[in-house]
Amino acid sequence: MEFSTVIITGANRGIGLALTRRFFQSGQWRILACCRDPDSARELQEMANRSGDKIGVYRLDVSQQDSVEAFAKTIDGQRVDVLLNNAGIKGGNHQTLLDMDYDAWAGAFAVNSMAPLRMVQAVLKNLRLSPAPKIATITSQMGAMTWPGRGSYAYSSSKAAVNKVMRILALDLEPEGIIVSLFHPGWVQTDMGGKSATISPEESAEGLFTAITNLKKSDSGRFFKWTGEEHAW
Ligand SMILES: NC(=O)c1ccc[n+]([C@@H]2O[C@H](COP(=O)([O-])OP(=O)(O)OC[C@H]3O[C@@H](n4cnc5c(N)ncnc54)[C@H](OP(=O)(O)O)[C@@H]3O)[C@@H](O)[C@H]2O)c1
Repeated sequence: MEFSTVIITGANRGIGLALTRRFFQSGQWRILACCRDPDSARELQEMANRSGDKIGVYRLDVSQQDSVEAFAKTIDGQRVDVLLNNAGIKGGNHQTLLDMDYDAWAGAFAVNSMAPLRMVQAVLKNLRLSPAPKIATITSQMGAMTWPGRGSYAYSSSKAAVNKVMRILALDLEPEGIIVSLFHPGWVQTDMGGKSATISPEESAEGLFTAITNLKKSDSGRFFKWTGEEHAW
């Protein structure tokens, strides 16, 4: 049986860990599970150890060019069918009109807005080896112009920016048939989403897995919820 391959960033906890588990459970995927510190990624390492060779754990800080290049080098020549840009940060705890942490805001742009394109550049050669390549980026409803939230200037603007980055990318990659889509994962019970969030990481990952693996060419450049429904821009 031939396996498809997915790269998942931020695979050590939260939605990324649940996505790794979901792709593995399908029995049809090899997962290149990336995280900043594999040595402390206990749950991910345990899953990888039980997976045979289906889950590989890779060191990757998506905001660092050297780290991204080193990762790309280790997978040189391998076919990648899906790049799943999941890693994300809030951008600090000071994000209100009169209390902004500008360094943390720049950090949010580095991880949430710029790193997804950095990843695409690094693994485009691998994606081109796939008969049906896809790029799925986890954004947020908070980056939508139609979302009425206040505050969260850093987080919301960094997600609005990645939405635009992915729209441009969809146009650039259309001639090659590489699908580029954005996903709001729901309000999810993770370290970022908090305990009051409405869905579990498993529910989010279940919906995202179905939506991402079923993406069609006509879905490129579009923004979806984890349920597969269209999200308003
Ligand atoms: N939870 C929600 O309700 C919600 C809602 C909308 C959108 N989202 C988005 O969903 C995605 C996953 O969020 P989550 O809730 O699972 O968050 P989380 O529990 O805080 O996990 C974030 C993940 O991103 C990784 N990460 C952060 N900076 C990184 C970097 N520079 N390089 C590599 N990995 C990095 C973290 O790794 P470390 O462990 O090393 O920090 C961690 O694995 C994010 O893009 C987030 O913005 C979440």
